[in-house]
Amino acid sequence: MKSDELFALLRRRGVLWPTAEIYGGAQGLYDYGPLGAALKRRIEEAWTAWFVGLSHDYYVIDPAEILPEAVVRASGHLENFTDPEVTCETCHNVFRADTVLEKVRPEGVDGLTPAEIAEIVRARGVKCPSCGATTLSVPPPFNLMFGLDFGVSGRERAYLRPETAQSSYLSFPRMWDVGRRALPLGIAIFGKAYRNEIAPRQVLFRMRTFTQGELQIFFDPENFPLPFDRVRDEKLPVVRAARRLAGSEEVELVPAGDLVSAGGLPEFYAFHLAHTFRFFRDVLGMPAERLRLYEKSDQERAFYNRIQFDVEANLESLGGFRELAAVHYRGDYDLGRHGQGSGKDLSVTLTGGRSVLPHVLELTFGLDRNLWALADLHLAKDGDRTVWRLPTYLAPVPVGVFPLIAKEHAAFALRLSDDLAAAGIPNQYDEAGTIGKRYARMDEAGTPFCVTVDGETLADGPRQGTVTVRTRDSKAQERVSAQELPNHLAPFLRPPRPSRG
Ligand code: GAP
Repeated sequence: MKSDELFALLRRRGVLWPTAEIYGGAQGLYDYGPLGAALKRRIEEAWTAWFVGLSHDYYVIDPAEILPEAVVRASGHLENFTDPEVTCETCHNVFRADTVLEKVRPEGVDGLTPAEIAEIVRARGVKCPSCGATTLSVPPPFNLMFGLDFGVSGRERAYLRPETAQSSYLSFPRMWDVGRRALPLGIAIFGKAYRNEIAPRQVLFRMRTFTQGELQIFFDPENFPLPFDRVRDEKLPVVRAARRLAGSEEVELVPAGDLVSAGGLPEFYAFHLAHTFRFFRDVLGMPAERLRLYEKSDQERAFYNRIQFDVEANLESLGGFRELAAVHYRGDYDLGRHGQGSGKDLSVTLTGGRSVLPHVLELTFGLDRNLWALADLHLAKDGDRTVWRLPTYLAPVPVGVFPLIAKEHAAFALRLSDDLAAAGIPNQYDEAGTIGKRYARMDEAGTPFCVTVDGETLADGPRQGTVTVRTRDSKAQERVSAQELPNHLAPFLRPPRPSRG
């Protein structure tokens, strides 16, 4: 589906809509309705099970979203968290430099100084995308953080966090004491990040507040034991930076083991790259052939990274590959910088007495982009119905409960709906319209199971107490005992977890 059509459908179904819609919306801000909010919770649960479930020493924390200025100065965000912008002296519009130069410099502008960008603009006679004038100038890069006047005096400076990651670094010494005082130690945060994007666009892809799930794994660079054999033969769809710079954007299918033995990646990195790829393929159910792991070059990487592969999906609605998540090897950048900034030594003493400043591997995931990708990849027309083929455990409403004839079967169906809710299974009771229409509504919402109470449920006979369970994707129907229904459905509603054995 095209982006407009997909957004219209999601808006109509109450998945999401622009913030302050009655005022014409606000750029880069979106609100999630009931289906969207529930889908976000399911994605968060699946992400947490898959990544935090990697180890007994990985924990979830919930820190404040405001950071004192000292933190973002030390982290480098005050200085480096910028996007080059271009201003038109004629119409005074402001644009992201990479967007304006897209045609003349498709490889982007990462790593270029304002003077170098200005030279490209001049030499190529680049025109203002808005008014067509050739009066573009390149001011100093624009910092993307939202600054706040903090406290009553308003003289203290603070910032809305631009990434959730920072609070994990700040919490590391406390978590070292709270935990087992052993590495690797994982700290995960799921929550909002804030960026004053120059040009918010593509609905959920460049927002000004969005939700991140980030796991920071603090590890000993000399010793990170892992069950590498579990991923050794997994063929990963990689686009290596060196090949790209030599002119090839082609995806190569490379076993994780070869990325280590011949590809120069550390084993710990290839392991987590494979684990992340499996999340997209096996947990979010994205088709493997629509995914690629795109390595960033020295110039393109975020300022804190030593190795960076972005997970990208080829999305019809956005006309090509888009970044959904990334695996960042940040080295000792973060604890080193916060050690200097705070004046506290953040190194730890391991059993045996060796002192080490842990390195960080970051698994970062943008929830909103992934929600959009799940709509792009799984929501499609099937004859005259529209079906959202979400994996069963991601469905915002996993079960629809219908009385075949409201007057006769409503009491039983309502009781069944309550029983499912009491067993922790969210469900939607619906008695409006024909059964076909009710199926259609649930198909569009991604509901994998619809349960109908009918005459046989209430009558004497072999089917007494049974209900019809209809499956979204196959449309197959079976009779199941109403009492057994929670047990029957439960295995489909649990997201996969990695084995820790
Ligand atoms: N802590 C590392 C970090 O924040 P990032 O590549 O800037 O790295 C991580 O962001 C993820 O957050 C991206 O892969 C993307 O999914 C999501 N993301 C980043 N900026 C976004 C925006 N403006 N709107 C929506 N999602 C965004």
